[in-house]
Amino acid sequence: MRILSGIQPSGILHAGNYFGMMKPSIELQDKGEALYFIADYHSMTSLFDAEQRRENTRRVALDFLACGLDPEKAIFFKQSDVPEHVELSWMLSTLCPMGLLERCHSFKDKTARGLTANHGLFAYPVLMAADILIYDAEVVPVGKDQKQHVEVTRDLAQKFNQAYGETFVIPDAQIREDAATVPGIDGQKMSKSYDNTIDIFGAEKAIKKRIMSIVMDSRTMEEPKPDAGENNAMHILKYVADEATYNDVLEKLKAGGFGYGHLKKALFENYWEFFAEARKRREELENNLDFVNEVLRKGAEKARSIASVVNKRARSACGLD
Ligand code: ADP
Ligand code: TRP
Repeated sequence: MRILSGIQPSGILHAGNYFGMMKPSIELQDKGEALYFIADYHSMTSLFDAEQRRENTRRVALDFLACGLDPEKAIFFKQSDVPEHVELSWMLSTLCPMGLLERCHSFKDKTARGLTANHGLFAYPVLMAADILIYDAEVVPVGKDQKQHVEVTRDLAQKFNQAYGETFVIPDAQIREDAATVPGIDGQKMSKSYDNTIDIFGAEKAIKKRIMSIVMDSRTMEEPKPDAGENNAMHILKYVADEATYNDVLEKLKAGGFGYGHLKKALFENYWEFFAEARKRREELENNLDFVNEVLRKGAEKARSIASVVNKRARSACGLD
């Protein structure tokens, strides 16, 4: 089984990224041939600062490796080290109806929020399709917000196969029901665009502050809270605490005499502990950037050896040989 996913270096990684995409991807590295990449070409659609892109790219590399991506098991690389993605993107774009892209939620959301609609932002899903198809990927682990992009990928693969003969494997998105949409501190989907994130590797004080500002209802400490399983803080606690701890907090909230301050304190402690080992690994990696660069260099070499074969197949199918 060939598995592939990517993440943009467009900001600081947060718990939504971790539980929605990174953790499932890391678990899948034992289940098949996995390729994971830093989508730096994609970040160009919304980030226009070269130094910031370099810095974010370095951070994503450190974060992903610290969280458990094992370069002995998975191929880890930077998208722009494999320019074949862009060539395939062009081939696919010539078969992509405008309407397909006009219907994409992600594009509609970003423009609704005031991002200027450059052509790259509009064509974003076509490049993403190329990322996936150029590796004959079968499984794409992502959060729910990326589902539509994988559907566009399937559509484009089918269109290409119809026009030029069987060329591409049709991939499937893999979305974990338990982490499809991790809520942010305001209860909306956690996203860097909504300023509602809790970082994976933030400073202790900053993370505590974020957790303390999770929006709750106004019930007092004394009141029993029979619906305690439904609130934002409990949603996040479920990801970071073991079952016994989670159930203990749940029962106390239900019984009353246990307030949201207590809950948030428990959440912070469990959150901090959950990422403790990764935090230690990240510090080690930070002192060994040569290793990180070497991982990405070797990863790109391996990725490119796969991509060039599929690229050749695609070129030949459409008469570019
Ligand atoms: P953001 O919304 O912060 O910009 P990205 O769009 O860069 O995040 O997402 C990177 C990956 O993390 C994608 O696979 C996406 O589905 C996943 N992801 C992001 N936020 C969440 C969330 N709140 N819940 C689940 N998965 C998420
Ligand atoms: N669009 C994805 C995101 O914002 C990142 C991405 C780019 C991706 N190419 C991909 C994810 C290919 C999976 C497969 O999260």
